[in-house]
Amino acid sequence: MASGETVRLVFVGCGLIARHHLRALQESGYAYSVCGAVDKNLDTAEALVASLPKVSDCKVFTSLADCLHWGQFDAAVIMLPHHLHEPYTTECLLAGKHVLLEKPLAHTLSSCVELMRVAEKADAVLMIGEQSAYWPEVVKAKELIESGEIGQPLFAKANYWESACSAFNTTFGTTAEDDWRCDREKVGGGVLMDGATHWVRPLRTWFGDVKEVVGVVCHPLQQRTGEILASVLLQFSSGITASLYCHRNGIPMHPLPFFQIFGEKGEITIDGDFSGGMSVITINNSEGKRFDSLGGYNKGFSQQMKEFLKAIHKGQRGVDSCKEALGEVLVAKAVYKSVRTRKWEQTTLDNLFDTSSQSEVS
Ligand SMILES: NC(=O)c1ccc[n+]([C@@H]2O[C@H](COP(=O)([O-])OP(=O)(O)OC[C@H]3O[C@@H](n4cnc5c(N)ncnc54)[C@H](O)[C@@H]3O)[C@@H](O)[C@H]2O)c1
Repeated sequence: MASGETVRLVFVGCGLIARHHLRALQESGYAYSVCGAVDKNLDTAEALVASLPKVSDCKVFTSLADCLHWGQFDAAVIMLPHHLHEPYTTECLLAGKHVLLEKPLAHTLSSCVELMRVAEKADAVLMIGEQSAYWPEVVKAKELIESGEIGQPLFAKANYWESACSAFNTTFGTTAEDDWRCDREKVGGGVLMDGATHWVRPLRTWFGDVKEVVGVVCHPLQQRTGEILASVLLQFSSGITASLYCHRNGIPMHPLPFFQIFGEKGEITIDGDFSGGMSVITINNSEGKRFDSLGGYNKGFSQQMKEFLKAIHKGQRGVDSCKEALGEVLVAKAVYKSVRTRKWEQTTLDNLFDTSSQSEVS
């Protein structure tokens, strides 16, 4: 696609996260139009269209098949329950449409493997959305680590917590009754396959590949079949160890820092605040330095959208992005196996996936 040309996008799934992608498009600086909104819930699709600047240009569909039959678009942003990631993304790629697919890659390892196979052959961009790769505080922490500010990193603590789950059901008409997040089969697990991926990616960005994990999970709520609590130790190939605590619940909670990275000479802390903030203290500067205006968690969406639109213009493909995103799924699935075996488990496909039966190893 020629640089400067308008990218025509459709939104597939117009729930909670759609408004973040819409804002990211508006901030991207690229020429775009949202020309289609697909949601099985007509009211939800229409609510998204009503929030667009140019309402008349956007068609509404209640099925992806109808939208693909119409076909007058370049790219789809897929923001659907996890069990639909593989089939819906495959349909779009086979129709030659570029795709930005919200994380995770897919709900099962067999779906991940299948989607990677399709992406390898597709003549279109596939990017897996993981905006924490562009989270400004995470990027700053990487710079500080690489510049030796805290010396050799030794250990990190990550806390993913969100206290008001109901916030996930209030946008664009999505209802609690429709909450696929309660269903372990549709999610592919619980909190580890959902919000926690945004905490695993920064750890992988700083410390490299996760070699093995051991963990415990907890499902105290009958109506949520996936875990809402998890406590995990991650051992990286680089020798660094991290702990990851995950907690998503509907109750008020005291704030915990999102990340603490301990090094030989100091510590980096990313505040437990989605609007941002971080600090670093070192042996040479025990007063510490504050970084209060980097932008916060949601700023990552804008940079991610820019990268997607840039890839479309440059004709890049997305297999690397799939491989990156597979890393978070492998961590979650290895924790689930560790819960069953009560041992450390390697985060490899060989350990977690039986290629002969195309199913997860139990
Ligand atoms: N990047 C982030 O920070 C972040 C945050 C939340 C969610 N997500 C991801 O975004 C995706 C969607 O999550 P959400 O929170 O927006 O969920 P949501 O439930 O708010 O929205 C999903 C939408 O999909 C629609 N839908 C369901 N089945 C459909 C079908 N067969 N055809 C068409 N529409 C259908 C639903 O009606 C709903 O409006 C998930 O992959 C999730 O993990 C990412």
